[in-house]
Amino acid sequence: MTNTKSRGSIQPTFAREDWQRGYRSLEQEQSYWIDAIEGVLPADLRGTLFRNGPGLLDRNGELYGHPFDGDGLICRISLTGERAHFACSFVKTPEFLAEAAAGKILYRGVFGTQKPGGWLANAFDFRLKNIANTNIIYQGEKLLALWEAARPYRLAPDTLGTLGIEDFEGRLGPKQTFTAHPRRDPATGDLWGFGVEAGPKSRITGYRVDGAGQLHQAFQQEVNGFCFLHDFAWTPHTCLFVQNPVRFQPLPFVLGWRTAGECLASIDREPSQLFAMDRSGHLTTLPLEAGFIFHHGNAYEDGEPHRIVLDSVCYREYPKLEPGTDFRQVDFEKVVPGEYCRFRINLATGETERQVLFPHSCEFPSVHPQYMGQPYRYVYLGVTTNPAGQAPLQGIAKLDVETQQTQTYSFARAGLWGSRCLCPVPKAPPKTMAGFW
Ligand SMILES: [Fe+2]
Repeated sequence: MTNTKSRGSIQPTFAREDWQRGYRSLEQEQSYWIDAIEGVLPADLRGTLFRNGPGLLDRNGELYGHPFDGDGLICRISLTGERAHFACSFVKTPEFLAEAAAGKILYRGVFGTQKPGGWLANAFDFRLKNIANTNIIYQGEKLLALWEAARPYRLAPDTLGTLGIEDFEGRLGPKQTFTAHPRRDPATGDLWGFGVEAGPKSRITGYRVDGAGQLHQAFQQEVNGFCFLHDFAWTPHTCLFVQNPVRFQPLPFVLGWRTAGECLASIDREPSQLFAMDRSGHLTTLPLEAGFIFHHGNAYEDGEPHRIVLDSVCYREYPKLEPGTDFRQVDFEKVVPGEYCRFRINLATGETERQVLFPHSCEFPSVHPQYMGQPYRYVYLGVTTNPAGQAPLQGIAKLDVETQQTQTYSFARAGLWGSRCLCPVPKAPPKTMAGFW
């Protein structure tokens, strides 16, 4: 059934059941040579691409309550120049194996999953299942599956077997965490990351993982308030964190009524806070325009270290899923869209200014690794190809941040509104997307 909800004469670009298929659990791990290839593989494209994401969204039919709670599935695509091979494997954490053996959900998910049995079965259960489901990196010959609320899991690149928690020779303790979105310094190859211990006061610890895979603590700072930091931005002198104006109300979580993620709520009329930490750990705190940010695209110094440009996907509020609702039935019309925005920040004077670079629903900004922390021109974004409002991200946009011109490739199914073409979008597109793409 095609989604028939539309605005005026504009037709939607997606079918809901196609989108829902992306949230079905993988039943069998795979390993095979790919025979069905459209076009020709470039002969000089050789190497291995690792991807990570939620691959199990239920346990014996008991549905998880949020896609972010899904168990990490590592996918590997190997390109030889002539052929392509695919393999995938779940990260076999002890919690994953225990649930597989029991055939039922044994752990609460952070965002939306409760154990069966109602609130009594969930009350005072604060155990975490490390789902290792958000990102995968290769640093110092270590292949690491990342999840921001715990330590990384190391895997064998050749077999995808799970080798165990990576504690960097004891330097990352059992209570410490490591972000799912580290940033690599293009000049040194060092990987920069952070961990958060969140509470009424939160502690942010910065890490540097060198080319040999050794972890070094770079800084540690305590900041006021509950921190929900999914990502950070990096320049050669400064690490930038945006604390979203959200509060955590723990009681419903403690008593088993709600998951931790469901106890987060936006704080009205409060600004975001920017935490800028230089390499010596000196902290500068500035208010930023209110909103919510999951992901940053890039940041750089505009001539001087205290003049910062920060580009991020901004939402007007925390895009929360209402407790008890099935995310598979989400009403896209009610989902707040993100926009790609630029903040110009003067750390010396405290002045900040915000500009919308791309006023369409988008997420997952990515820049060429060589320009990490540097002035750059192009960012790649996952974008909706629906002509208006919110929808699944079916396209990839290449945005020129200087001219604000965009090229978009749509993966929308043929016969629906989208087309598989590179479609230039005029400069300074208006708020409505009708007529574009
Ligand atoms: Fe992310």
